[in-house]
Amino acid sequence: MANVVVVGAQWGDEGKGKIVDWLSSRADVICRFQGGHNAGHTLVIDGVVYKLHALPSGVVRSGKLSVIGNGVVLDPWHLVKEIETIRAQGVEITPETLMIAENTPLILPIHGELDRAREEAASKGAKIGTTGRGIGPAYEDKVGRRSVRVADLADRPTLEARVDRALAHHDALRRGLGLEPVDRAALIAQLEAISGEILQYAAPVWKVLNERRRAGSRILFEGAQGALLDVDFGTYPFVTSSNVIAGQAATGTGIGPGAIDFVLGIVKAYTTRVGEGPFPSELHDADGERLGARGHEFGTTTGRKRRCGWFDAVLVRQTCATSGVNGIALTKLDVLDGFERLKICVGYDLDGQRLDYLPTAADQQARCVPVYEEMEGWAESTEGARSWADLPGAAIKYVRRIEELIGCPVALLSTSPERDDTILVTDPFAD
Ligand code: IMP
Repeated sequence: MANVVVVGAQWGDEGKGKIVDWLSSRADVICRFQGGHNAGHTLVIDGVVYKLHALPSGVVRSGKLSVIGNGVVLDPWHLVKEIETIRAQGVEITPETLMIAENTPLILPIHGELDRAREEAASKGAKIGTTGRGIGPAYEDKVGRRSVRVADLADRPTLEARVDRALAHHDALRRGLGLEPVDRAALIAQLEAISGEILQYAAPVWKVLNERRRAGSRILFEGAQGALLDVDFGTYPFVTSSNVIAGQAATGTGIGPGAIDFVLGIVKAYTTRVGEGPFPSELHDADGERLGARGHEFGTTTGRKRRCGWFDAVLVRQTCATSGVNGIALTKLDVLDGFERLKICVGYDLDGQRLDYLPTAADQQARCVPVYEEMEGWAESTEGARSWADLPGAAIKYVRRIEELIGCPVALLSTSPERDDTILVTDPFAD
């Protein structure tokens, strides 16, 4: 397989960092195709911890090309700071190792401000619980055809025209929210000041990727967030503002869908969610607390405590379908060590009817009662297991039942944050 897409198959935070790092060590090109610096990927390489938000995971490895595709929304000031931080850790980042698509829309300071102002103004129940990074407003401007894009930074008259187009909309909106109008001159000056730093990485990414593909490069498409936060197929409106599912790897970079050879879904052995919105298998008891504490379930980007619950096979079966997942990487199995009994959500009861999918209508979602199957837990530790023989029988049964219920095989099983603590069943890059 030449090209692999990695997607989170739940609400994000499935433990993509470790898997993406392992795959990126074997890829030639690593591309981000959606989201922005709302993502948080932690990589541990030779004992050094790297925290990435906007940069693709490949940047910390030499000899790789890292790419930010047009499906991303990019905060140029954040990116420059992130590059400085990673450089200070001894990593080389140059226009030979990092490329940004010229048609990438920018996140401006007004987007972050609007994101936070809206969240503050929203009543309880209407809040999304966003990361406050301006992601939603930046995507709104993209589809509203009023974004400032990377290529616009190269020409002052174009830049001014783009800013004016954006401000015609934003100033009206800001008046309604009681915010001051935007200081146009200051915004243009800020953009001009950062333009050189960004433009050195600008490239026709669609062309480079297609050429690299023809030349036989292995390309890894690195998804952020998770498929249940997808703007179309997630728990709308409690979602992020991009398409997160695997099809976005094509439109978010400019490579044809036929170029995707393998889709790897990252799946946590239980469920977590940050922010507001439906979560049928959520736990509000000691089991939930225990999952959170053992799993260190705090957000990388915002530090918020994650909501925790049992594994929901219905939702994962759904995301495996919408992303065309070929195999899953199951993570954090060791967090379940020591539970006497485990539950898996296998369906929902809606007004006396059994459903095998989550309905779209919000009122129906709210009335869905999860149907659980109970399984025996295991007392032994699975942490650091490197072969099936290292796993207790009950843990193997749990994994096999998940495969059956979601209709997708395990390609990799991760049993600790350490790179080598992995059981490999199918290598996504193997021919
Ligand atoms: P936004 O992407 O900042 O607009 O936030 C929208 C929703 O997506 C909120 O519920 C966030 O908590 C969630 N979200 C955004 N990025 C991530 C992520 O990387 N991991 C988990 N949840 C995320």
